Amino acid sequence: MSEEISDREDATADLASVEEIANSDTEFDLSSPEGRYLARSKSFVSRARQLSDSLQHTWDAHAGEYVLEVPAGAGYTAVAEDAKPLSFKRIFDRNSVVRLEIGTGNGDQIVSAAVSHPDRDYIGFEVYRPGVAQTVSKAVKAGVANLRIIEADAAQALPILFPEGSLDEVWTFFPDPWRKTKHHKRRLVQAGFAQTVARVLRPGGVWRLATDWSDYAFQMRDVIESSPYFENPYAGVNPHEEDPDPGRGGFAPRWDGRVMTKFERRAIDAGREVFDLVAQRLS
Ligand SMILES: C[S@@+](CC[C@H](N)C(=O)[O-])C[C@H]1O[C@@H](n2cnc3c(N)ncnc32)[C@H](O)[C@@H]1O
Repeated sequence: MSEEISDREDATADLASVEEIANSDTEFDLSSPEGRYLARSKSFVSRARQLSDSLQHTWDAHAGEYVLEVPAGAGYTAVAEDAKPLSFKRIFDRNSVVRLEIGTGNGDQIVSAAVSHPDRDYIGFEVYRPGVAQTVSKAVKAGVANLRIIEADAAQALPILFPEGSLDEVWTFFPDPWRKTKHHKRRLVQAGFAQTVARVLRPGGVWRLATDWSDYAFQMRDVIESSPYFENPYAGVNPHEEDPDPGRGGFAPRWDGRVMTKFERRAIDAGREVFDLVAQRLS
């Protein structure tokens, strides 16, 4: 879906202020928040926030319970750079293990995890409003209280909102593949993002990833194994014949905590192989 959309469309983000900046002749200070927003290659494109009547109804009734309100920054889905870090104790009213999913889609994974582990708390990042609303709808139906969603760009907001070493696990399942080579810079899983994730994980905590695109899987493996912050517990395991380095491997067995989402189902139906990866935070 999003890989079909050109860079040009993404440049016209849908917040009026950003659009004005993008279209003006003014030289913009790239070290300012607005300038940094415009300069960044984002892993998503801005899309309509309009909800169906039934999702709007759910949103009006329940967004207050499940969607964390965070101060908005410059640009679509950006969080204010001076926003205060989240207090999990205040959000969930207890001390618990917290896990984060980045790109929750329509919420199947995070809601299922929240139902299966009432003793843990879960936070999700998603930039697509209808996806956030579907997650809220599923959370309401499941009756869970241990889940919150943030409608924001994880790459920008994670370092601002999450304290260092505060998370037990981070999940990035089926991130948009950005298949064209000229779009690879938009892929979420890159060295800089790995550093961002490493900062918020406790020592020994894990970053779980999955993708159905083999070249992205090889990229994820390379990012993990080149990072000074992570080790790959599956280094050398499950080598793949399409790998540019065919004997190398580095892929985990399917994680049994990962539910089958429509993205995985679609990939399997199309004959694509699914890769799981695990990065363990070094102390
Ligand atoms: C291909 S979908 C996969 C969704 C889900 N993980 C699943 O397996 O069903 C990728 C999701 O990531 C979201 N996304 C992309 N970049 C993001 C970012 N920087 N922050 C938060 N969400 C993002 C997209 O809006 C989309 O819903």
